[in-house]
Amino acid sequence: MPTTLFSLQRDHVAHLQRAYAEILNDHGFDSLAIYSGNASEYFADDHAPPFQTYGHFMHWVGLADVQHSWLIIQPEKRPQLFLYAPADFWHLPTHLPEEPWVSEFVVHFCNEKTIPAMVGNAAVIGDIGQLTASTQQALKAQCQPEHIVRVLDELRLFKTPYEIACIREANRLSIAGHQAAQAAFIGASGELDIQLAYLAASRQRESNVPYQNIIGLNEHAGVLHYQHYDLNAPKQRYSLLVDAGRRFRGYCADITRTYAGPDAPAVFGELVSAMHDLKEELVRGIAPGVSFIALHEQMHRHLGEILVAHDMYKGTAEQAVAEGVTRAFCPHGLGHSLGLQVHDVAGLRHPDGSPAPAPEYHPALRLTRTLRPGMVVTIEPGLYFIDMLLAPLRNSSSPINWALVDLLSPCGGIRIEDNVVVTESGFSNLTP
Ligand code: GLY
Ligand code: MN
Ligand code: MN
Repeated sequence: MPTTLFSLQRDHVAHLQRAYAEILNDHGFDSLAIYSGNASEYFADDHAPPFQTYGHFMHWVGLADVQHSWLIIQPEKRPQLFLYAPADFWHLPTHLPEEPWVSEFVVHFCNEKTIPAMVGNAAVIGDIGQLTASTQQALKAQCQPEHIVRVLDELRLFKTPYEIACIREANRLSIAGHQAAQAAFIGASGELDIQLAYLAASRQRESNVPYQNIIGLNEHAGVLHYQHYDLNAPKQRYSLLVDAGRRFRGYCADITRTYAGPDAPAVFGELVSAMHDLKEELVRGIAPGVSFIALHEQMHRHLGEILVAHDMYKGTAEQAVAEGVTRAFCPHGLGHSLGLQVHDVAGLRHPDGSPAPAPEYHPALRLTRTLRPGMVVTIEPGLYFIDMLLAPLRNSSSPINWALVDLLSPCGGIRIEDNVVVTESGFSNLTP
């Protein structure tokens, strides 16, 4: 392990120890138990879907698929890990990575699914609804105290240098996948083969991806969370949208690229290029003190300008925003917080934990915070040709160039997405 990551991880664990001690002392708790969670089996079957460890558990140990395990955190004591590691000849026994956090912990390997003894006035967080009723009753602790969870969410919003290094590495690995996906598209592959090329080049199996990769050819590029992979390549190649990530030590990359194919009208390629420029412009707007809602509204003003500049809208950019036209072309938010979860915690909260919901006209926005150093966010402007959203405008007097919309519809849409950390002086783009 590189020395820098080694020492950064030590600092990260020390930071968590200090922060948790302060939070527990402030709230009058002697200890906190964090449950990793566990997957439930399919109904009437004996196997389960891929699992993802609870974020606050991963925050300490970075293990993305640990089940039936516990952390016990006490101020001024070494954290304890109760790792479920049954003697089992069906599976490879659980082993721990060679990372510095391991020596900071007292590790107990547990042959049984147990709950550790709670210490003093204790709190428990995690998906304890998965535990049996009798186990839940045996917990001598305050379960899921809302104020503790909110404060820990807030802690997670601000990444340590170790976490930023992990997200940067996840991005580096993901970009190798994106390059392979682009090459596969140039080679006329279909969606499934593009997905396989992405997985191979980013060195991961499908069950480990942080979210299901979105690989949409042609009109599928206009389905925001398109969830299939067609086996066969289409005859016409208008476009490819790839929204695909990677985990590194639990931390996620979430990157999107869109490409114009050989059969796309020239204007589609020009729009892809304009959306890259827009993404760059919005990234440059990131700095401490900037309101993410204001940045989202800036995206809409620029989308209005792009629609006008490419003759898709025969009014003014301001009019396109005011009439809701830009929202019909881009129904999602500018971005979200990114970390151990792709859509990370605390994005819709004020610093004191009270709700900070999305504005009425932008209900899909997942981040309403004022940016502060240490936050990692995605910047993902989009422009789509989605019938369902555009249809109501067809019967209005809105000066939309419908002939151009119809020409571009087979291309589906465009999204360009980078991952950016807010620094003391501005920003650093983690997406190479
Ligand atoms: N990949 C999901 C998103 O961009 O939010
Ligand atoms: Mn994405
Ligand atoms: Mn995203």
